[in-house]
Amino acid sequence: MSRPRPRTLRYLAGVVLVCSLVAGGCASLRLGTYPRDFVYLTEGELSGAMHELAAHMGALSNLLDDLAAGADAESVADVMVTEVDSMRKVTDRLGVGSPGTNHLLLDAHLSEFVDDLEDARRTLNATPPRFYQAGRLVGSCSACHRFR
Ligand code: HEC
Repeated sequence: MSRPRPRTLRYLAGVVLVCSLVAGGCASLRLGTYPRDFVYLTEGELSGAMHELAAHMGALSNLLDDLAAGADAESVADVMVTEVDSMRKVTDRLGVGSPGTNHLLLDAHLSEFVDDLEDARRTLNATPPRFYQAGRLVGSCSACHRFR
């Protein structure tokens, strides 16, 4: 003898109802825990920002070559500072100082990268300018990129 069908249906309906309540509850909890200034980056925004970083980093490494070829240290340092500042502006768009973004890799390493930029800026502005930190910056990209 099989059980009456209506009971099974009601049971199933109950399960579905409970499940959707739980799922709905989780969704609103998640919304509630995202702070207002959470930064959402589209793939295009992130990729655009990264290509800008890459261009400034390329310029910086050309400047290091100029320096090695004997260019005037003060004037090379001045131009390098503008490149470092441009990179710093890009990092602002990537959510520096925000409670989080939709990219775990950014959240984990962006503030390190910003610290490296600031160290480079400070030492380039020293008298006489020092280039060690600026030279190391090229390696700072690899905090996020070495695993690929
Ligand atoms: C704080 C982490 C972080 C740092 C530092 C960082 N990147 Fe990225 N980069 C990412 C993430 C996240 C992506 C996009 C996701 C992916 O491709 O894994 C990305 C993607 C890229 C891409 C591919 C963009 C595309 O069109 O898909 C390039 C090029 C790039 N980065 C260059 C650089 C350069 C050059 C530096 C150093 C100046 C740098 N990145 C530093 C996190 C970082």
